[in-house]
Amino acid sequence: MFFSTLLLAGLVSLTVALPTSSSIESRAGGPIARPIPSTCTVTNPLPTAESSMTYQPGPSTAGALMYYAYYSSYTTSTTQMQQQCFEQCYGFGDSTQCKTAYWAQNLTVPAGYYGSPGGNLEIGCLFFNRTLTTGDFEAALAGQAVGAYAGNIQC
Ligand SMILES: *[C@@H]1O[C@H](CO)[C@@H](O)[C@H](O)[C@H]1NC(C)=O
Ligand SMILES: *[C@@H]1O[C@H](CO)[C@@H](O)[C@H](O)[C@H]1NC(C)=O
Repeated sequence: MFFSTLLLAGLVSLTVALPTSSSIESRAGGPIARPIPSTCTVTNPLPTAESSMTYQPGPSTAGALMYYAYYSSYTTSTTQMQQQCFEQCYGFGDSTQCKTAYWAQNLTVPAGYYGSPGGNLEIGCLFFNRTLTTGDFEAALAGQAVGAYAGNIQC
């Protein structure tokens, strides 16, 4: 009896200690970024770029756009921002809701974003709740959707 009480007390303190040792990074108001396990595959659905063409999600994706965030400036490096966008997609909800993440510089901010009139070009991170295909993307205007990076996450 004494032994089992001790054991239980040990388990309780271990359970309580766990959350404080976790170091999941999150942006205020954004979905929690979770590392994508190596058992998942990330495939690029973007059309193969012809010369200087860049691509952005077209009208066919409107009904699948489940989350978006725009940044007026870099919060970290391009690579880190892209990684955060993908990991937030994976971490969204039960990890199966977000199927495709898309990141690019110079995306047109939609009207009404945080009450703004929109139309300005910013860095964007978009999540889609259906797997996008090459045909879901359209060519962007020159200078827009620069550095586009997209991935279908399958686990
Ligand atoms: C995808 O997201 C859109 C926008 O939030 C929503 O209207 C739609 O029902 C969602 N579809 C699925 C399959 O979850
Ligand atoms: C974004 O667009 C602006 C205005 O058209 C342009 O000056 C700038 O070079 C573009 N940024 C990139 C990374 O291409």
